[in-house]
Amino acid sequence: MGAVKDLGLASKATTRRLVDTFGRVATDLRVSVTDRCDLRCTYCMPEDGLDWLPEANQMTFDEIVTLVSIMTRLGVRTVRLTGGEPLMRAHLPQLVDRLTDLDLVEVSMTTNGTTLARHAQALAEAGLARVNVSLDSLVASRVREISRRDVLDRVLEGIDAAIAAGLGPVKVNCVLLRGVNDDEILDFVRFARATGCEVRFIEDMPLDADRSWTRAVVVPGGEVISRIAEEFALVERARGTHPAATYGFADGSPGTVGVISSVSEPFCESCDRLRLTSDGYLRTCLFAHEELDLLTPLRSGVAKAELAEMIADAVWQKGPGHAIGLREFEQPVRVMSRIGG
Ligand code: 5AD
Ligand code: SF4
Repeated sequence: MGAVKDLGLASKATTRRLVDTFGRVATDLRVSVTDRCDLRCTYCMPEDGLDWLPEANQMTFDEIVTLVSIMTRLGVRTVRLTGGEPLMRAHLPQLVDRLTDLDLVEVSMTTNGTTLARHAQALAEAGLARVNVSLDSLVASRVREISRRDVLDRVLEGIDAAIAAGLGPVKVNCVLLRGVNDDEILDFVRFARATGCEVRFIEDMPLDADRSWTRAVVVPGGEVISRIAEEFALVERARGTHPAATYGFADGSPGTVGVISSVSEPFCESCDRLRLTSDGYLRTCLFAHEELDLLTPLRSGVAKAELAEMIADAVWQKGPGHAIGLREFEQPVRVMSRIGG
C-alpha cells in the first residue's frame, strides 16, 4: 500500500502513526484556542461563566503550530479550530495563516458566529476553508433563553458574511433540546433550503457545567429525520467517516440536513478525532478521564521526536468510547467549553 509513503512518514523522524488498539486511525484534530466565550449556552456553561484559564497556561500560536506540526507528521490531516469561542482569541487569522502552511488538507473552525461578520473576510484570506456556526434557534427570544445573550441577528449576519467570503458550505450546528427548540426543526430545514447551508441537528450530550443533563432532553436523530421526511422528500448522502448522517432534497433544492446522533447511535468505533485543549492537553475522546499534558514538556524543551512518541502512546491507549446511558457512565471533569467541540 502507498498509504505510508503518501503521508511522507518514511523521510520523517518518526514512522509511527496515530493508531489505537481498536485499529482506529486519528487524522482529525480539534484545537481549542481559548476556553473563553461570550455566550453562556445552558447545555455548556453556567450563567456566571467559568473561571477562565490563566493566560500563561494558554498555548501561544508558536506552541500550537509546533504541536500541530508534530501531529501532521503522525498523520493528522485536518484541523478544526474551536473554543470556548475561537474568535475571542486575538489575531486568529495569523494562526490560520501559519497552520495552512503545514502539511494539512484543511483548516476549518467552529464558532458561535457572534463576531463572524467582522472576521470572515480575514479568515478566508488567511486560508480558512470552512466554518461551522452554532445556532440553536431562529427565534430571537429563544436564542436569548438558550445562550443567555441576545445575539440572533449577529449570528445570522455572521453566516451571511461567511457565505459571502467563500467559507462555505457553512454548517449550522443546532443542539436540539426537547421541549425547548424541537418545534423549530422544519424552520431550520427551510433555512437550509433558503441559504444552501448544511443544518446539522446534534443530540445533547452530558458535557454541561451544571451537570443537569438527562436523557429526556435528547431528541434522537432518527426521530428528527422522520419528522423532516413527513414534509420534505430526502435523499441520503454517502456517509464517509463523518459522524453526521446527511441528506439532500429530492426536489433538487440547495441545502443539506444532517443529524449527529452521538447519544442514540454512538459512532465511537469509527472515531478519527483527537482534541488539543487550549492549555495544551491532548484528549483522545470527549469523554476521556485521562488527558496528556503536552505543554509542560514542550516548554521544558523536550525534543519533538519524544513528544511524538508521547502522543502516539496516548492515542494507542484511546478507550473504546463513551458509555452514555450505562450505569457506569461518568461525566468527565472537563466541560465542553474547556475541551472544545
Ligand atoms: N452536547 C452537544 N453539543 C454540544 N455543543 C456544546 N455543548 C454540547 C453538548 N453538551 C456543541 C455546540 C457547538 C459544538 C462545538 O458543540 O453547540 O456547535
Ligand atoms: Fe460558548 Fe459554545 Fe459553550 Fe455556547 S456551546 S457557551 S457558544 S462554548
